[in-house]
Amino acid sequence: IDIKTLRSATGGVTTLDAGYKNTGSCESEITFLDGEKGILRYRGYSIEELAEKADFLEVSYLLIFGELPTAEQLDKFHSDIKKNSVVDDDIRKIVDSFPKFAHPMGVLSSLTSALTAFNPSSVNVDSEADMYNAIVKILGKFPVLVAWTMRKKQGLPLDYGDNSLDYGENILKMMFKQPNQDYHQNKIILNALNKLLILHADHEQNCSTSTVRIVGSSHAGLFASLSAGISALWGPLHGGANQAVLEMLEAIKQDGGDTKKYMAKAKDKTDPFRLMGFGHRVYKNFDPRAKIIKKAADEVLGDLGVKDPILEIAKGLEQEALNDPYFVERKLYPNVDFYSGIIYRAMGIPTDMFTVMFALGRLPGWIAQWREMRLRKEPIGRPRQLYIGKTERSFVFIDKR
Ligand code: ACO
Repeated sequence: IDIKTLRSATGGVTTLDAGYKNTGSCESEITFLDGEKGILRYRGYSIEELAEKADFLEVSYLLIFGELPTAEQLDKFHSDIKKNSVVDDDIRKIVDSFPKFAHPMGVLSSLTSALTAFNPSSVNVDSEADMYNAIVKILGKFPVLVAWTMRKKQGLPLDYGDNSLDYGENILKMMFKQPNQDYHQNKIILNALNKLLILHADHEQNCSTSTVRIVGSSHAGLFASLSAGISALWGPLHGGANQAVLEMLEAIKQDGGDTKKYMAKAKDKTDPFRLMGFGHRVYKNFDPRAKIIKKAADEVLGDLGVKDPILEIAKGLEQEALNDPYFVERKLYPNVDFYSGIIYRAMGIPTDMFTVMFALGRLPGWIAQWREMRLRKEPIGRPRQLYIGKTERSFVFIDKR
C-alpha cells in the first residue's frame, strides 16, 4: 500500500517524534556517521585522515562537489572565490552601526542575510551554474564578514584581505592584522585553524544543517538559508556550547577548581546546569572529533608555549565523567566543543567569537547540504503535528469574557 492510499484510508497517518530522534529527513551522500562506533567520514574519507593531511579548501570542495579536487580544479575554485571576496562597502556601514556589545553571532547572521539584499542575483538559483556562482560568492565574502565581526568588537579598522595568500592564511591575516604593523603568519596557529575548520566542516543532519535544508527547501536563496543556519548554530545546546564550555571552565577555575562540585550540579535533576561540551544526540561513544581536538590542544598549547590551567580542569572533568555511573549509563562523552575553545583561546580568539569560528568551519557543509537538497529537487520541508489544543469553540465578544 502506498503512502497516499494509506493516508486517505486512515484519514492521515502521522508519526510523532519530538526532536526528530528517530526520523530521517533526507537521503544524503555527503557525511557518514556511526554514533555507536564513533566513526565520521566526509564522502567516504575518514575525519582522522582529512584532519591530518588535507587543506580546508580541499575539504570544502570535497564536501560540496563530492570528490577531492585536482590541483587545477582547486586553483580554479580558489581563484573564483578570490574574485568574489569583495563585500559591498555599504555592508561596512551596517557593521559600524551595530552596538559594540552585540554578540558576534547576531552580527554574523544579520550580515549574511544582508548579503542577500546586496546580491539579488544569488537568490533565485535554479541552474548548477547559478548555484556555483552563489557558492563561490559566499565562500569569498563570509571570511570577510567573520573578520569584520571580530574587528568591530576590538575597535580595529575593517580591512579587506590579501588575495595573494592561501584561503586560511588570508582569514588569519584579516582577523589579526594590527594597523601600522607588519603581519607575520604563525604556522602553528595556521595549522591549528586548518584542523579545527576541517573537523567542523560537516556533521550530517544536525540542528543548523537541517535548518539550512528546510529554509532552502522553500527555494529561499543560499545566503538566507545560511543566515538561518547561523542562528540555529548560536544556541548553547548546539554550536554555542563552545563558548559555554570555556565560560564554565573559567567559572570552575574562579571557584577554586572544584570539579566535583560541578559534576554534582550536572547530575542534580533540580538544577538546570549541564556539563557543557558533554553528550551528543548521535554519539553514544567518543565523538571522534573530540579525540583529535584533545590531542591537538596539547600539541598547540605546547608549541605556542601556553600553559593554560583550564586545560587541566577540562581533563580532570573528563576523567571524572568517564568514571561516573551517571555519565557512563547515559553514554555522555566529550563532544567537539569540549576542547576546541581551549585551542581558540590559545590562538588569541575572544570567547564570544568561538561560535563564529564554528560557523566558518561549517560553511562548506551547509553549502554542500543545500546544494544536494536543491539538485535532488527535494520537496518543501513541512512536518505535521499532533493537535492537542481545544476542540471547536464559539467566539465570545470582549465584554463577555
Ligand atoms: N550534563 C548532564 N546531563 C546530561 C548532559 C550534560 N551535558 N547531556 C545529557 N544529559 C542527560 C540528560 O539530563 C538526560 O538524563 P535523563 O535520561 O536522566 O533525563 C540524558 O542525559 C539524555 O539527555 P537528552 O537531553 O535527552 O539528550 P539529547 O540527545 O536530547 O541532547 C545534547 C543532546 C543537547 C547535546 C545534550 O547532551 C546537552 O545538552 N549537552 C550539553 C550541551 C552541548 O555540549 N552541546 C553541544 C553538542 S555538539 C554540537 O552541537 C556541535
